[in-house]
Amino acid sequence: MDLRGLLLSLLITIMIGLEMFCVANGNNLVFQVERRKRSLTGIKDHDARRRGRFLSTVDLNLGGNGLPTKTGLYYTKLALGSPKKDYYVQVDTGSDIMWVNCVECSRCPKKSDIGIDLTLYDPKGSKTSELIFCDHEFCSSTYDGPIPGCKAETPCPYSITYGDGSATTGYYVRDFLTFNRVNGNRQTAPQNSSIIFGCGAVQSGTLGSSPNEALDGILGLGQANSSVLSQLAASGKVKKIFSHCLDTVNGGGIFAIGELVEPKVSTTTPLVPNMAHYNVVLKNIEVDGDVLELPSDVFDSGNGKGTVIDSGTTLAYLPAIVYDQLIPKVFARQHGLRLYLVDEQFKCFPYTGNVDGNFPVVKLHFEDSLSLTVYPHSYLFAYEDHGVPVWCIGWQKSVTQTKDGKDMTLLGDLVLSNKLVLYDLENMVIGWTDYNCSSSIKVKDATTGIVHIVGAHNISSASTFLIGRTLTLFLLLTAMLNGFIN
Ligand SMILES: *[C@@H]1O[C@H](CO)[C@@H](O)[C@H](O)[C@H]1NC(C)=O
Ligand SMILES: *[C@@H]1O[C@H](CO)[C@@H](O)[C@H](O)[C@H]1NC(C)=O
Ligand SMILES: *[C@@H]1O[C@H](CO)[C@@H](O)[C@H](O)[C@H]1NC(C)=O
Ligand SMILES: *[C@@H]1O[C@H](CO)[C@@H](O)[C@H](O)[C@H]1NC(C)=O
Repeated sequence: MDLRGLLLSLLITIMIGLEMFCVANGNNLVFQVERRKRSLTGIKDHDARRRGRFLSTVDLNLGGNGLPTKTGLYYTKLALGSPKKDYYVQVDTGSDIMWVNCVECSRCPKKSDIGIDLTLYDPKGSKTSELIFCDHEFCSSTYDGPIPGCKAETPCPYSITYGDGSATTGYYVRDFLTFNRVNGNRQTAPQNSSIIFGCGAVQSGTLGSSPNEALDGILGLGQANSSVLSQLAASGKVKKIFSHCLDTVNGGGIFAIGELVEPKVSTTTPLVPNMAHYNVVLKNIEVDGDVLELPSDVFDSGNGKGTVIDSGTTLAYLPAIVYDQLIPKVFARQHGLRLYLVDEQFKCFPYTGNVDGNFPVVKLHFEDSLSLTVYPHSYLFAYEDHGVPVWCIGWQKSVTQTKDGKDMTLLGDLVLSNKLVLYDLENMVIGWTDYNCSSSIKVKDATTGIVHIVGAHNISSASTFLIGRTLTLFLLLTAMLNGFIN
């Protein structure tokens, strides 16, 4: 059976059945595939009911660094299959599917300049691997109903286009995922669970063959039923609560699935219900004590209501009208700085002073009195331009529009790093607190009630970061940003 040919013809049929829309991205048009989604009854928790709930705390070892001058992303190591093999996948709270590059892949990266060894997943090389066919419940729920042209024994295809225009296409498989279950202070034991994930057959854009920041795949940690988080929760393995602390100081950081005990995240903001992503309501922005005067609906992007929190995006994107007010305020105390464009992308200026003393703090205020304090050393990043030390502005003008033409507000690693960010899907809230991401947190084992320490990790094997690399890989957000559930 020519799997790839079959897959492509099937995909074309499906594409026709899907709503396609495009967003203006400068002069380029980025096509985004919006998938209509509905409940994934396919991944029911019958396993949990049969065996009783056995909720684990999971420690995801992190590597990478969100700074645009470093990797610009965070990743974790997971094991798949039996015998199990290790895969490095980007940790992305802005998408919902896990996929890894597969053996048949055309245009997959072979080498990575992050200093990790890439591995292709081979369904034939794992004795527990199973194909998911297009008549499987998981498949029809991902596509909101039966797949047109589905014949027996046809694999269930997936296709995701991310916000930077890169894309991955392949088919779903089921296999065992082995993760680290926390069973002591800074101590874990392997545990496994059968999950459905994508086997990547065709990659394009930044996910293609370039070794720049190449990884084995992406771990979508969104709230849709298809995400690994939801699948583990549905099979009674974990609670739908996780925290990350992304460390730009030492790289890597802390990532734990389970109930957070310490630090206390006392203020939270509600997650906008029925959204595909982690959307929150941003009310206003304060710079140096002054609140920006903005139209009241500027952060309410119509049917993409709210502001997206996304660990898979490197920078922070604001509507043009917000950006145009924010930047002059950020530079109000500085006179005579020479701003120029680096890599046709970043506004930079030669500077040797202490940015924290000379630039204002920016505060984002959210619903329910939660605020996000962004320090100058976070929203400005140091770079060396042909030997000249410069600082560059991390804030960006939004390049993504929602269907009704509004600029999207997207908060990535630039503002999320060096904070403990708690995603509590049991209570549908999100919150954060300034934190040392090289330290540790305490989580409670839901089965035993015992509190364990989960420490920081930095799994990158070698330091191969090159100063002066082109700063191009900066936006990874999912195609389903505008997708509504139901
Ligand atoms: C996810 O699955 C659960 C139970 O399997 C179901 O009740 C729920 O409606 C589904 N949610 C979505 C958003 O599809
Ligand atoms: C999953 O875990 C069980 C119990 O620890 C073990 O017996 C089994 O071999 C594991 N399966 C795989 C595929 O790793
Ligand atoms: C952060 O925690 C690490 C590990 O405990 C410690 O070595 C480091 O000094 C701390 N950094 C700050 C700024 O406190
Ligand atoms: C983390 O890894 C990076 C890249 O290998 C390295 O530069 C950094 O020193 C490491 N940090 C720690 C604390 O080990």
